[in-house]
Amino acid sequence: MVSFRLPKRSKVDEGAVRRVADAADPRTLRVYRWNPDDGKNPRIDTFEIDQAATGPMVLDALMAIKDELDPSLAFRRSCREGVCGSCAMNIDGQNTLACTHALADCEDVVKVYPLPHQAVVKDLVPDLTEFYAHHASIEPWLHDDGTPPPEKERLQSEAQRAQLDGLYECILCACCSTACPSYWWNSDRFLGPATLLQAQRWISDSRDAATEARLDDLDDPFKLYRCHTILNCAPACPKGLNPAQAIADIKSALADRSE
Ligand code: SF4
Ligand code: SF4
Ligand code: FES
Repeated sequence: MVSFRLPKRSKVDEGAVRRVADAADPRTLRVYRWNPDDGKNPRIDTFEIDQAATGPMVLDALMAIKDELDPSLAFRRSCREGVCGSCAMNIDGQNTLACTHALADCEDVVKVYPLPHQAVVKDLVPDLTEFYAHHASIEPWLHDDGTPPPEKERLQSEAQRAQLDGLYECILCACCSTACPSYWWNSDRFLGPATLLQAQRWISDSRDAATEARLDDLDDPFKLYRCHTILNCAPACPKGLNPAQAIADIKSALADRSE
């Protein structure tokens, strides 16, 4: 029988318990912590906040923890409106945005972890360097055909503009890619659902002149075809988008081309 031994540093320890005094409506959160500078294992800290004194979202609870219980807690956030994508994390086992995920929709004891299968920078902050490199690799900007640009905007018909619906809304939060098993195992070469949805956004843009070159670039056994339609990505998207459909549309465009 083969026995596997996990690296010493992978064991998650039980951490500190901290609570606000005299909470009128106490609520417990169990939060993943890891500090690259202290040489210790990751741990789960337990915090009890006063829901009566905080806003309704998980991000509000994390802010309350940082303000009142532990200022060293690290997490990303900016807009607190579900538009910047920076507060993506795993809450009760689901990748989502902390700023739009209500405490009322969480389990009694809220479990907060960083996005899965990414290296951790600190606490709830994942290292998204590779994710952003994938996005940059598809050249996510408009390529023109070399002719002088119009004096004003590049016009589209209503139908052409509608082709971007379901694609342009992506906020690059990485919830979908970090929920995708193919991305977990092959993120060195598979672009993952977020980047492929972004690629389809440019392929679908009537103003872009690089459609064929974009398709040529994606016609690759790893970049695109490592998607095995497992469909973890669509339910993970907090914006209600469907990266699996976008990937299917790219595959179908490539199939049409080869007929
Ligand atoms: S459908 Fe494709 S991209 Fe989405 S989770 Fe499955 S393998 Fe990943
Ligand atoms: S498709 Fe959805 S889950 Fe994926 S990066 Fe874009 S907004 Fe986030
Ligand atoms: S803080 Fe911007 S999406 Fe949550």
